[in-house]
Amino acid sequence: MLKPVFILLLGVMLATPMAANALNIKDYHKEVMTGADGKVDCAACHGDAKRKTVPDAASCSSCHGSPEEVAKLTERPADAGHSVEPNPHNSLHYGTDLPCTYCHQEHKESKVYCNQCHEFTYPQMKR
Ligand code: HEC
Ligand code: HEC
Ligand code: HEC
Ligand code: HEC
Repeated sequence: MLKPVFILLLGVMLATPMAANALNIKDYHKEVMTGADGKVDCAACHGDAKRKTVPDAASCSSCHGSPEEVAKLTERPADAGHSVEPNPHNSLHYGTDLPCTYCHQEHKESKVYCNQCHEFTYPQMKR
């Protein structure tokens, strides 16, 4: 008689922490995103909205600066020519307008949007 209730309770007890742990957070964000309570501060990227959506550039800019500032970090020397892969943050096609999350993912492996058409390696990129 008690069995179904017990299973239900166990299910709730197991499912609650597991749901939170199932989301990967990048190593490079873990420290800064983890609060004193040991929990990841979802609001740092998602804001306070209850329903989480894909963060826009503004969510990243609060810490990383504007897209133009990010592009300066990865500027290539003017005489680099074709020996160096192009600046991913300021490209021929899109300027600085490409959403950060087209390349940088948080809960899964990052990818290079350009590689739908190109074959860049970007060894420096933390995936
Ligand atoms: C609360 C502040 C904060 C927010 C918001 C934030 N980051 Fe970060 N991020 C950091 C810190 C701190 C580091 C580690 C130090 C560093 O490399 O700048 C980091 C590291 C990174 C790195 C690795 C940099 C490297 O060294 O190669 C990437 C890529 C990155 N963040 C992208 C993003 C993107 C995309 C977003 C938005 C979805 C975002 N971050 C939101 C603080 C933040
Ligand atoms: C087209 C893909 C792409 C987009 C879009 C993109 N990034 Fe990056 N990002 C990269 C790659 C590739 C690297 C590695 C840089 C290199 O090879 O020099 C990188 C590196 C970085 C770094 C580390 C820079 C450093 O050398 O210190 C940060 C921080 C970062 N990105 C944040 C962002 C933020 C914030 C946005 C949105 C405004 C963004 N990125 C948009 C591909 C992208
Ligand atoms: C460092 C920034 C960052 C933090 C912190 C973060 N997220 Fe995310 N989240 C993202 C990005 C970027 C995406 C877009 C998909 C991806 O990159 O995995 C995303 C996507 C999502 C989505 C899917 C949204 C959609 O519409 O597809 C959910 C749900 C979500 N996050 C929940 C959470 C929860 C819950 C937490 C706290 C435990 C959290 N996130 C912490 C950056 C973050
Ligand atoms: C939808 C396909 C597509 C995407 C996505 C794309 N490109 Fe391109 N790209 C092209 C095409 C097509 C050309 C023209 C090829 C040519 O003339 O050699 C080109 C040319 C270039 C060139 C000039 C090549 C040269 O040899 O001078 C650069 C640099 C470049 N792309 C960088 C990027 C970067 C950086 C990204 C990502 C931010 C990107 N591309 C995303 C299709 C794409």
